[in-house]
Amino acid sequence: MDILRTKDEIRAWRRGAQGRVALVPTMGYFHEGHIRLMRTARSLADSVVVSLFVNPIQFGPTEDLSRYPRDLENDAAKATALGVDALFVPSADEIYGQSHETYVYWPLLGALLCGRTRPDHFRGVGTVVLKLINLTTPHVVPFGRKDGQQVLLIDRMVKELDLDIEIVVCPTVREPDGLAMSSRNSYLNPADRVQALGIYAGLQAAKTLIEGGERRSAAIRNEMSQLMGKFPGLGVEYCDVVSRETLRPVDAVDHHAMVAVAGRVGTTRLIDNLWTIGTGGDIRVEL
Ligand code: PAJ
Repeated sequence: MDILRTKDEIRAWRRGAQGRVALVPTMGYFHEGHIRLMRTARSLADSVVVSLFVNPIQFGPTEDLSRYPRDLENDAAKATALGVDALFVPSADEIYGQSHETYVYWPLLGALLCGRTRPDHFRGVGTVVLKLINLTTPHVVPFGRKDGQQVLLIDRMVKELDLDIEIVVCPTVREPDGLAMSSRNSYLNPADRVQALGIYAGLQAAKTLIEGGERRSAAIRNEMSQLMGKFPGLGVEYCDVVSRETLRPVDAVDHHAMVAVAGRVGTTRLIDNLWTIGTGGDIRVEL
């Protein structure tokens, strides 16, 4: 596997890449969620490039940029074992230079849900993802459903900016007890780890209700907040039933809804969600 650090190197790699190309954008510290994306990329493309870049412009001034976990050696070993062809590991200076001024952002959709407490976050995500797409001109780019708002906004960017690529949404990979895998789980001490399960407990309750025929958002949210209330160490930031089109709250779930939760355990911010999928009255829940 090639480890590439500069834009010239990645462009040269791209010129030599055979067949269909998949890009997997990541911030590293690989867990099974990332691995799922890399396997998907491997199965959909002839050449796979994984980017590993802790993107400074998607972190707020008081967020965890400086302590974000990093382990390049381990990540490179995992990517090699999965048959990744190239790992792109640029510096912030390589990506943005000294005076970056051009951004991609969603003035409305990027201000909802996570955007309420992370106002510049999606602007940072959109800008770096578009740059990575331009540097690697992939055919297909897998994203995790775990970061639901992120993949919905990127999908919107692809459509609205006429990018000729396919976005593939991969299911959320969880720990055996249900906690969604995240590089940030490494911040949790054993007591936090127990409290973090409140988010999954809430979503599990929503899934049971919806599968039992409940459609009213208010009833779903009520049950969720009761359950999450049993985890006193979990500070819920939002718990919303929204449309995956508008990201705005809906009164009732249909086949295109997202039940999205964000919460804090200690200093760790965690997110998770479920999607409702299906046709007509037949709604399936993907958690
Ligand atoms: P990061 O958090 O490293 O995630 C990289 C990719 O892995 C994203 O598509 C994310 O949704 C997916 N992922 C994370 N946890 C997952 C899980 N438990 N199951 C399935 N997929 C999971 O998301 C980012 O980095 C950044 O915002 C990025 C898109 C790279 C832009 O900087």
